[in-house]
Amino acid sequence: MTLINQRIHSEFCNCAVEHPSLSQVIQVPMSMLGSSGAVTVLVVVIILLILLLILVFICRKRIKPAFQTKAKPPIEVMEIIAPSKKQQGSMDFFSGSVQEMSHFDSQTLKKATMNFHPDNFLGSGGYGPVYRGKLSDGRLIAVKTLNLNKAQQGEKQFLSEVRLITSIQHKNLVRLLGCCIDGPQRTLVYEYMKNRSLDLIINGHSDQFLDWSTRFQIILGIARGLQYLHEDSHMRIVHRDIKASNILLDDKFHPKIGDFGLARFFPEDDCLSTQIAGTLGYTAPEYATKGELSEKVDIYSFGVLLLEIISCRMNTDFTLPSGMQYLPEYAWKLYEKSMLTDLIDPKLREHGFVEKDVMQAIHVALLCIQSSPNLRPPMSEIVALLTFKIEMVRTPMRPIFLDLRHKVAVADKDKDDDYEN
Ligand SMILES: Nc1ncnc2c1ncn2[C@@H]1O[C@H](COP(=O)(O)OP(=O)(O)OP(=O)(O)O)[C@@H](O)[C@H]1O
Ligand SMILES: [Mg+2]
Repeated sequence: MTLINQRIHSEFCNCAVEHPSLSQVIQVPMSMLGSSGAVTVLVVVIILLILLLILVFICRKRIKPAFQTKAKPPIEVMEIIAPSKKQQGSMDFFSGSVQEMSHFDSQTLKKATMNFHPDNFLGSGGYGPVYRGKLSDGRLIAVKTLNLNKAQQGEKQFLSEVRLITSIQHKNLVRLLGCCIDGPQRTLVYEYMKNRSLDLIINGHSDQFLDWSTRFQIILGIARGLQYLHEDSHMRIVHRDIKASNILLDDKFHPKIGDFGLARFFPEDDCLSTQIAGTLGYTAPEYATKGELSEKVDIYSFGVLLLEIISCRMNTDFTLPSGMQYLPEYAWKLYEKSMLTDLIDPKLREHGFVEKDVMQAIHVALLCIQSSPNLRPPMSEIVALLTFKIEMVRTPMRPIFLDLRHKVAVADKDKDDDYEN
């Protein structure tokens, strides 16, 4: 036995003697093994300990970068987060929320969108054009340049609005990643949604077919997103523009509401004109006629959207026979004739669906499109009706628009008769 082995052996035995309970346990096998056996066991234990230490060291090294990213982002990300010199006065707007909000400089966005190349153009709505982009770290983004005029938004005001919207987070809301301020131009940067927007499917511009369970997942997701905006988030937001093109779909067709809070960037009057003019078919009567704005405006639009998802057609379609052109009106007529199943997308019928669930969803839609805002259920009740399939106790009230349209039709006919006479 070497000198070192002898020392280990004697210290090990001393230790066992000092702890009688241990000595009983350890000395029996040691006597069985003999002194050379005990040394072998010790050496193996030491080797195992060293291996364990190496393993722990390797693991820590691998995990470390993730922690480091949180504490201090890598230079590339820092470049995105850090405002340019010109905007350093606005630094306080970023403090504390760097994790949620980034400032993108215009060069980064130009590079990401290949200088706003037409191939990356996704579409354009009332607020401005939207482009697809890819950041150098591989993240896909949607870049929306707002059609604001210079006087409308000061830099500070814009940043505080962006910061507020960025603080609203829910799995059914599109995430606003940050913004870019370049002279008078204001740009918003969103996460990119692979399956684009629901309107492309509803109006047949995409050959994707959605079965009932996917459609139901979309309906429920939108309802949950709206419930969050109306009732659960720290700032109450009325979206004002719920429609199929503002429902974005990720790679698994999970829905996310887009453009929420956007109205905050525009003065009230502009908002009314762009949105009401752009999306009449979804607009609640009290908002269209009197400009009365409340959550119930979104709930009306949600009802129209629900009908669109079930029937896979847009709310207004002049290529259809006259009685079918306006979807809410058509749905009501079918309801009164107890023929609601006619509303269901024929393709859905081919693939199969749970009739009870579809009928429940149509009933929810009819409650949402009632003329009186007070009669429309709040989003939390809608979510409960859809989720727990609670038996419908409320009967929807016939909307006034049906009578109004009837009156207009009669008046037109009278005019024609007078003319002919
Ligand atoms: N985050 C995103 N990911 C993928 N595609 C998007 C994203 N945001 C918008 N788009 C696409 O860009 C198109 C244009 O969007 P935009 O919001 O400007 O117009 P809109 O929804 O038709 O009208 P509005 O201005 O009233 O919202 C949408 O139809 C959608 O297909
Ligand atoms: Mg939109």
